[in-house]
Amino acid sequence: MTAPLNREELKKKREKYIVPSVKQLYADPPHIVKGKGQFLYDETGREYLDMFAGIVTVSVGHCHPKVTQRTVDQLQQLQHTSTVFMTQPMVDLAEKLAEIAPGDLCKSYVTNSGTEANEAAIQMARHATGRFEVIALEHSYHGQSHLASSLTANTNWRPETPPAAGVVFAANAYCYRCPFKKTPDNCSLECARDVERVIQTQTSGKPAVMIAEPIQGVGGAITPPDDYFKEVKKILEKYGVLFIADEVQTGFGRTGKHMFGITGWGVQPDLMTMAKGLGNGLPVGAVITTAEIADKSQRQVINTFGGNPVSAATACAVIETILEEKLMDNCRVVGDYLMEGLKDLQKDYPIMADVRGKGLMIGVELADENKTPLAKETARVVELAKDNGVILGKGGLWGSVLRIKPPMSITRDNVDTCLKVLRKALDVVAKVPV
Ligand SMILES: Cc1ncc(COP(=O)(O)O)c(C=O)c1O
Repeated sequence: MTAPLNREELKKKREKYIVPSVKQLYADPPHIVKGKGQFLYDETGREYLDMFAGIVTVSVGHCHPKVTQRTVDQLQQLQHTSTVFMTQPMVDLAEKLAEIAPGDLCKSYVTNSGTEANEAAIQMARHATGRFEVIALEHSYHGQSHLASSLTANTNWRPETPPAAGVVFAANAYCYRCPFKKTPDNCSLECARDVERVIQTQTSGKPAVMIAEPIQGVGGAITPPDDYFKEVKKILEKYGVLFIADEVQTGFGRTGKHMFGITGWGVQPDLMTMAKGLGNGLPVGAVITTAEIADKSQRQVINTFGGNPVSAATACAVIETILEEKLMDNCRVVGDYLMEGLKDLQKDYPIMADVRGKGLMIGVELADENKTPLAKETARVVELAKDNGVILGKGGLWGSVLRIKPPMSITRDNVDTCLKVLRKALDVVAKVPV
């Protein structure tokens, strides 16, 4: 391998050759050259604890030996044919997905990304119902294609061109900033009931499908109340509307108690989409649905790379590793420990206005006493944490939420390190105006 450029050289080269719209998290980015387990390393050998997992993607740890070996084996055996040829890894993957998916979800279409999985899911739902309109939630993120960005209710990621037709939005279940000005004491799930208002006022009365993330990821770990999705599903059933759970971030045990986040709300989706953690970094996504819904889509589709043997074999190894290493349990145990630590920290730093999430999918919203989002402070905390060796994510509509979604294999010791560094960063930010 050639020696890596130093960070300044790489920065200049990147500016010259990469389009400017591909932005970076940091003002002063490190040059990452290596990953191992829950750690990243820059070109000088400096170690960083990765608490963001390449945006919730490195589920079993960087360069996991078993997973990497399976990738290499498959690369040396057969790399590509496309979906018009019969190969086994894609079918093995679909079988594994059927085994871990809830209820009667059993037939998959394997893609390269979450965006593509969502596109495919909407199309399947439209075929199955013979209807067109789609309901999504405010603050959602569903991807970057024209349709997926039109399903995304976050101005930072919306298309500048006219959005796709037939997409309407309901209020999200954002308890810290309840759109209906309720509190947990007087809440009657007005947010869930908003879905019916939207159906009645913004659609033909016969939408095809609703898509929602069980916990909104890019939106800032917005976590609905326990009965939210049950109430929503009741309304959808009343109007004959299908439900897609977008599990791109919440999938594969990350929320700690179930393989897929939506199960935690006691709801069975009609379709489920996934990506990110499925490949541990290799591009792979999927939509899984019932035989009944799948069989209504008979029109031919083709995907050059979707379901390719390398990504599919890798994804099989990822699922096996999650099960063998009991990483879902780890998400619950270590996630609870992290949550407790953050709640403790919150007592000392009131700008940690809301700490929320499940398992190892956690958000910390920074706001002042009037609930004004503190975007600059959030960016500063993220930058300071990195300077002190911890990678955190950032999100939320106003960029004011710290996103903590590490590899599912992290330990309590890692959590202690993260909390120590976070305290140090908050100390600076809470004292010095930014
Ligand atoms: C919930 C959700 N859905 C879909 C996507 C799009 O996935 P991809 O970036 O793989 O296209 C993302 C990406 O962040 C996501 O968080």
